[in-house]
Amino acid sequence: MNAVEVVALTKAYGKKVVLDGLDLIVPAGTVFALLGPNGAGKTTAVNIMSTLIRPDSGRAWVAGHDVAREPDAVRDAIALTGQFVAVDGLFTGEENLRLMADLRHLPPAAGRQRTAELIERFDLGEVARKPVMTWSGGMRRRLDLAMTLVGSPRVIFLDEPTTGLDPRSRRAVWEMIRDLVQGGVTLFLTTQYLEEADQLADRIALLDHGRVVASGTPEELKRLVPGGHVELRFASPADLDRAAALLPSASPEPSKLALRVPGEATPAELRDLLNRLGEVTASQVSLHSPDLDDVFLTLTGRPEEVVR
Ligand SMILES: Nc1ncnc2c1ncn2[C@@H]1O[C@H](COP(=O)(O)OP(=O)(O)O)[C@@H](O)[C@H]1O
Ligand SMILES: [Mg+2]
Repeated sequence: MNAVEVVALTKAYGKKVVLDGLDLIVPAGTVFALLGPNGAGKTTAVNIMSTLIRPDSGRAWVAGHDVAREPDAVRDAIALTGQFVAVDGLFTGEENLRLMADLRHLPPAAGRQRTAELIERFDLGEVARKPVMTWSGGMRRRLDLAMTLVGSPRVIFLDEPTTGLDPRSRRAVWEMIRDLVQGGVTLFLTTQYLEEADQLADRIALLDHGRVVASGTPEELKRLVPGGHVELRFASPADLDRAAALLPSASPEPSKLALRVPGEATPAELRDLLNRLGEVTASQVSLHSPDLDDVFLTLTGRPEEVVR
């Protein structure tokens, strides 16, 4: 069974086409990542699947229910966590969870038990009785995830669960997300980070201007993308020219006094590269692994257009 099926979904705001014939299939029990830059239409897609807004045309089924015809059944089967933390800062973590249990119609005893379990599982025991506004961003995000699990949903939507977090909190949230799926739920997440999709998802779809421009497993997607590169910088145009002559496979970027050398940059390759430069000294060496920019450049022929 598929947890999510989306067929030819469109949505426009005035003349701005946000979704332009979106098709998606997410098998039950898997983790799916919708990857795209800011403004690509990720939140719009999630809002349609979670019945918050209606599409202009096309259809979507979530947990077997048509989002347009059976919105109540869809809402009962899903949980949604937005980019902006949906918890009330004046309440404590425990109070927020109890409130969610009431909203989900859990009997009081079951609500108390579920709240205690989730506080334990998300490692929030020390702060659970303090107002959430005094918590760190990472703790709030963990509470947000815990809130989604109060009603035992079958499909969880996480809209950019780690945007704005520092790398350490991001890793902590990834661990929590991995835990979520162990119970057999389906996870639909959106992200701007190739690395995040790679770390968490069974399948990834790349969204560009409201359409899927590539999809597959993380391995399949990364195979479409060139490997990393090494950037060598030089002190003068003369040095850059001499280096470019010694390294024919590299592409010069004269405005940066830089040479871009394709490759994975293993220590051995790097040593070989510097040896081949001989007398010419690079003023700076930096290593780049492929990221969303490289994916976009390869698949769409242009850099991602970031909407700010
Ligand atoms: N309610 C709205 N009214 C007008 N434009 C909107 C509305 N919601 C989203 N948009 C526009 O649709 C585009 C996609 O937005 P969104 O789905 O939020 O993208 P993402 O979540 O990928 O950053 C953006 O250009 C945004 O400005
Ligand atoms: Mg968004």
